[in-house]
Amino acid sequence: MENILEIHDLVKTYPGVTALDKFSLEVRRGECHALVGENGAGKSTLIKSIAGAITPDSGTIVFEGKEYSELTPALSKELGIGVIYQEFNLCPPLSVAENIYLGEHLTKGLFQNEKLMNKKAQEILDQFKVENLKASALVRTLPTAYQQLVEIAKTIAKSAKLVIMDEPTAPLTDREVQVLFRIIKELKEKGITIIYISHRLDELYEVADRVTVMRDGCYITTQETKDVTKDQLIAYMVGRELKKNFGRRNTETSEILLETRDLGGNGVKPFSLQLHKGEVLGLGGLVGAGRTEYAQLIFGAARKECGEIYINGEKADIRSPRDAVKAGIGMVPEDRKLNGALLRMNIRENIVLPILKRISNRAGFVNSRQERDITNEEIQALRIKTPSAEQKVNNLSGGNQQKVVLAKWLANDCRVLILDEPTRGIDVAAKQEIYNLINELASKGCGIIMISSDMEELIGITDRMLILYEGKLTGQLERAEYTQEKILTYASGE
Ligand SMILES: Nc1ncnc2c1ncn2[C@@H]1O[C@H](COP(=O)(O)OP(=O)(O)OP(=O)(O)O)[C@@H](O)[C@H]1O
Ligand SMILES: [Mg+2]
Repeated sequence: MENILEIHDLVKTYPGVTALDKFSLEVRRGECHALVGENGAGKSTLIKSIAGAITPDSGTIVFEGKEYSELTPALSKELGIGVIYQEFNLCPPLSVAENIYLGEHLTKGLFQNEKLMNKKAQEILDQFKVENLKASALVRTLPTAYQQLVEIAKTIAKSAKLVIMDEPTAPLTDREVQVLFRIIKELKEKGITIIYISHRLDELYEVADRVTVMRDGCYITTQETKDVTKDQLIAYMVGRELKKNFGRRNTETSEILLETRDLGGNGVKPFSLQLHKGEVLGLGGLVGAGRTEYAQLIFGAARKECGEIYINGEKADIRSPRDAVKAGIGMVPEDRKLNGALLRMNIRENIVLPILKRISNRAGFVNSRQERDITNEEIQALRIKTPSAEQKVNNLSGGNQQKVVLAKWLANDCRVLILDEPTRGIDVAAKQEIYNLINELASKGCGIIMISSDMEELIGITDRMLILYEGKLTGQLERAEYTQEKILTYASGE
């Protein structure tokens, strides 16, 4: 079979980091080739080299038989390489259609009127067969999952030969993932080659023909997907055996830490919940069901229309995240770029930000030894891959940025911690560390509200679950009652 793409001995270094270490890869025309590896393994760096977004130090890229030592974004696009990046590259104030055709030469008279452009864009979107995805809608009004589809539409519109998807399913739930898989199949039928990056290993068995594992910038192996088990893949990725284990606590008490009474607003119909000391309470449901929106109400990040919040039995007047933090509530938000990390600051600054008061003396001077110890502890606990604590968060890999946001709140000793998709984009080994940390926090008496689209994880780690559908509470389950069917039934509003 013919190779559409060959990578030979690619090297890319950053100060203190070898992101790609003589990496080589062969991708066959028309296949879906998965690329896996831990956070910071070099997946995105490889993609950026192929897309011409960065220049490798050495090595060559062969595309359709022609050798390049360096690609530029323009050349890469011209060759027919389309990339869907881990972080969205959409322009939120513009419409879907404008985003799809952004950067195209509109001067050719092709799309001189908006109507025609909208029509063209709508044709592409209609292939996705999802409801309410309008070419004329403004991107900023779309839910994350739909923004992802717009990214895909963008590359399809450019009739790419090779489409590279960097964690396309991270912001999607099962239903949307199925839409994406159907689209991938259709692309393959048209002879388009796909490179597919994901931390959800189960998915590979549904979409990928072959899978390549990389570790610390090095090539490890390429396997036919059907010939390799998940455990084998994990062992290749982390270089050792690793068994997923959610652990079991026995920490739940009857003491109520946080209670909401008929709390509503932000698109959610009023309902009440109680969170006990030492409990991990799950919020289940599909994307857009109102889980994040409800969490925002508790955290004061959105205005409530009705209801009250009680902490330790006392009414709490939470009107802003600042009030929430004062009341001992922490939140790891869903969108790390927007809400979580201060990307231009370094890891240390990010982690100690919420606890500056605690580690400063009366005159306001920060105890730098304590600062360093806490930072290093978190870097180790979450296996944040970085040359030092002084590295700018901007320079970390996607998953490692997510870990910094998490570390920031873990260092903060909250009474109540809200985790919104804490393991999104996080590799298997670090996921395990996060489960361990959740268990540890709960055993210290912390109450945790966990939102996750990973059903196995939600079932594994939570004591109790509330399930939402279209902004309404549709079901409550105790751990002993958990089954996938019950959860899905509530989550689809049936
Ligand atoms: N601009 C940069 N400056 C310094 N280091 C960088 C830069 N970009 C990437 N790195 C480092 O290169 C390594 C590889 O990063 P990369 O983003 O390719 O990882 P990844 O495999 O995509 O991880 P993830 O699964 O978390 O997305 C990481 O250690 C990262 O910190
Ligand atoms: Mg990446």
